[in-house]
Amino acid sequence: MDLGVDFLGHSIKNPLMNASGCWCDNKDLLDDLLQSEAGTFVTKSATSEYREGNPKPRYIEVPLGSINSMGLPNLGIDFYLNYSLEFQNNHPDDINFLSIAGMCMEDNLSMVKKIEQSEFKGITELNLSCPNVPGKPQIGYDFEATERILEEVFSLTKKKIGVKLPPYFDFAHFDAVSEILNKFPLSYVNCINSLGNGLYIEDDTVSIRPKDGFGGIGGAYVKPTALANVRAFYLRLNQDIAIIGCGGVESGKDMYEHILCGAHLVQVGTQLMKEGPQVFARILQEFNELVKSKGYESLKDLRGALKSM
Ligand code: DHB
Repeated sequence: MDLGVDFLGHSIKNPLMNASGCWCDNKDLLDDLLQSEAGTFVTKSATSEYREGNPKPRYIEVPLGSINSMGLPNLGIDFYLNYSLEFQNNHPDDINFLSIAGMCMEDNLSMVKKIEQSEFKGITELNLSCPNVPGKPQIGYDFEATERILEEVFSLTKKKIGVKLPPYFDFAHFDAVSEILNKFPLSYVNCINSLGNGLYIEDDTVSIRPKDGFGGIGGAYVKPTALANVRAFYLRLNQDIAIIGCGGVESGKDMYEHILCGAHLVQVGTQLMKEGPQVFARILQEFNELVKSKGYESLKDLRGALKSM
């Protein structure tokens, strides 16, 4: 089956990509993604300046997934913007995603301005859901702050902007967040970021050092929550807001389920960290076999086709 996707007017060779934060912090890792079978890629969430991040150990694999409290270690917006500009010069037909996660409103706005003034033709992902900076709440759980930041951002730019959302767990929240997002010319929403502030214990001890062991949970633990968020937003958002599905994608079947719930693109996080960039070729092959066996002829027919009982 042809796995090409038309995403907001850009053609992408297949719907699979990395999740921000995974295998995308520096030039070597980003170059690995370019060599892989991934259809596109997103860079590590950037702040205005370089950050060292939280003390280690800050990421561990656990049997059903991962827990992390990285604390936004990153090379700063200039590095990721320059990498993206070089990528687009060398691959004029392709696009990538540039993730930003400012430490405060001014930080976010100054990065948006910088991107606006650049030649960047890809899509900026405004991360409203980093759970790992001590003392900083996730913007996505403060609906007024979410609306305020979107007002400011869209007053500064005409370029394409998507948002990375935290997981929501209540229909009232799906409704309230969708009502806000539908007011803006958003390109897409990305559901979900890690499930914030879990705790994983081994031998009576927390398993990561920062924040007394509290950290974002990814992997198989979060798949049902991710699928629910993709589905809930697919059913509530304006048609012209695309959906990126992220959470618990380990196999072609997981990718298939995200698309069935309404995702246009699908991201791999924990499993990419575990397996490396060859994960994309494996998942794509499993996905291809599965859609063929189910009789779908195009991705468009599959997207959103979840059946009710
Ligand atoms: C980090 C974690 C996140 O879930 C995110 O969206 C951005 C940054 C981090 O801890 O570095």
